[in-house]
Amino acid sequence: MCGIVGYIGKRDSVNILINGLHKLEYRGYDSAGICVLDNENLSLVKEQGQIEALVSRLSSRPISGAIGIAHTRWATHGEPSERNAHPHMDCHGDIAIVHNGIIENYQSLKKLLQDEGHKIVSQTDSEIFAHLVEKFYQGDLEQAVRSALQLVEGAYGLAVLHRQERKIIAARRGSPLILGLGLGEMYIASDVPAILQHTKEIVYLDDNELAEVTADGYNIKNLSGQVVDKNIEHIKWSVEELEKKGYKHFMLKEIFEQPEAIANTLRGRVKNGQIKLSLNLPKKIQRIIISACGTSWHSGLIGKYLLESLSGIITEVDYASEFRYRQPLIGPEDLLIVISQSGETADTLGALREAKARGAHTLGIVNVVGSTISREVESGIYLHAGPEIGVASTKAFSCQVTALLVLALFLRQESGRELDQDLLSELDKLSEYINKSLEQDQVAQEIADKFKAVKNFLYLGRGLNFPVALEGALKLKEISYIHAEGYPAAEIKHGPIALVDKKMPVVFLASKSHLSPKLISNMQEIKARGGIIISVTNNQEEEVAKQSDYVLTVPQVRDELSPIINVIPLQLLAYHIADLRGLDVDKPRNLAKSVTVE
Ligand code: AGP
Repeated sequence: MCGIVGYIGKRDSVNILINGLHKLEYRGYDSAGICVLDNENLSLVKEQGQIEALVSRLSSRPISGAIGIAHTRWATHGEPSERNAHPHMDCHGDIAIVHNGIIENYQSLKKLLQDEGHKIVSQTDSEIFAHLVEKFYQGDLEQAVRSALQLVEGAYGLAVLHRQERKIIAARRGSPLILGLGLGEMYIASDVPAILQHTKEIVYLDDNELAEVTADGYNIKNLSGQVVDKNIEHIKWSVEELEKKGYKHFMLKEIFEQPEAIANTLRGRVKNGQIKLSLNLPKKIQRIIISACGTSWHSGLIGKYLLESLSGIITEVDYASEFRYRQPLIGPEDLLIVISQSGETADTLGALREAKARGAHTLGIVNVVGSTISREVESGIYLHAGPEIGVASTKAFSCQVTALLVLALFLRQESGRELDQDLLSELDKLSEYINKSLEQDQVAQEIADKFKAVKNFLYLGRGLNFPVALEGALKLKEISYIHAEGYPAAEIKHGPIALVDKKMPVVFLASKSHLSPKLISNMQEIKARGGIIISVTNNQEEEVAKQSDYVLTVPQVRDELSPIINVIPLQLLAYHIADLRGLDVDKPRNLAKSVTVE
């Protein structure tokens, strides 16, 4: 997601816009830009890198104007660069736009515009919009923007300037956009923190609404031009509270962002019973090797189950740090899939380069657009999960598993086999299921309070939920510093069960599946030795409830979706234990968000 700020009024806009961008850095920060209007002249400055890079560019090239728009970018199409930074302009420099979201049909619109002679200079989907407004502009900017929006499919938050009109047009569909009301001045922003120091009177635009904003006020219409009346909200939060949207830590915010993040991962990729991915893959894939680190390695383990069961292709999973040094037997008939939230993990990058050197095809599942791994793979699937600030990965994990499921379905489809339409319609409800799991937050906090002082935890799961047990244990370890071990539930009796005593909490991933009867006997083995059982289950199995001392209830979903649903209470449990222990949840000791060293 990106950050947008706009200002129109009696003061110079530059400092107002730059300060606003700083408040939105949590939304993305790989490049930034500003465009101001003064005497029918648009001045544009943009720079790759954090906002400070833009500030130093402005000190050597000062601009000023009482109307302006600005943008901090979280790349979705086209790597971070000055050329791809926003604002984008039309062919003649009369129009400037900033955009947050994804224009799904930008390729077809780009062709339409290029066939009409427009010069598209960036790799982004957003620039298309500046040329669409140019195409329809006949002296009325609001009308031109509305006409352009009729052609656009996908999500947008937009602010648009024309050098001959003293106004800003703002429009929203799927990406947040608000108006801030001042005296003789008006503000536009992606989120409240950007403008809270100037005003607490806010109007929230809703989807398919468009605002014409001048220094004296605003006028809101829907896409068919009818005027829309909106309430003015009075904001009570402080800026600090707002950056984390009122959550105490970024990690908790990112746990609760998962419904939206998953929707963004799926956006445009599951349509009319088909999977839509544009990948450059070989016709025949003999074998898939997944290579990653940490949480991404856990999602890779789930990917193995999904890829083998849905696409029928043999799939192995390797720690990247092991793969790259074991003289891997991999070649042109194989596909290496690297999974990395940051796209910069040194071991994963090393595995990628080793596989390429041996002739393998490569595919990346990455969150950070334009990251090194995303630029070195042959093709890829971006998560579009938005920035993940907390060191402990949460929304990236669930989006990685979602992307792997979509990929497995795509490979199945490409091999000419039927897609299970029930599974596709369940995918549509995934965000809703995650919201149900998030309702366990209070229960997770109560359980966390009982176990915040223990020294050890065991996490047990079977099948697709064995990697979820590993992930739950990692979450707890890395932010609470309590030792925790994930294990295949059946394996426990081959040694680790010796650890079980009356002080040992054992978390079971126990949602109903064809393995439930086996799992219940594993629970009985633990119970018989006095272990304390915490179950993540959907209450379909009385026996599970009977064996459990504590229950975290999740919705009943198909096996393929259960890892995404079951991991949520484990993220919340780990978060609350760490928070109750008074630890720095977002920045745990010894850890970095991206391990760019071996
Ligand atoms: C997960 O919570 C950890 N922060 C860590 O294991 C992380 O998943 C690992 O370093 C891989 O990072 P990447 O996904 O950015 O490659």
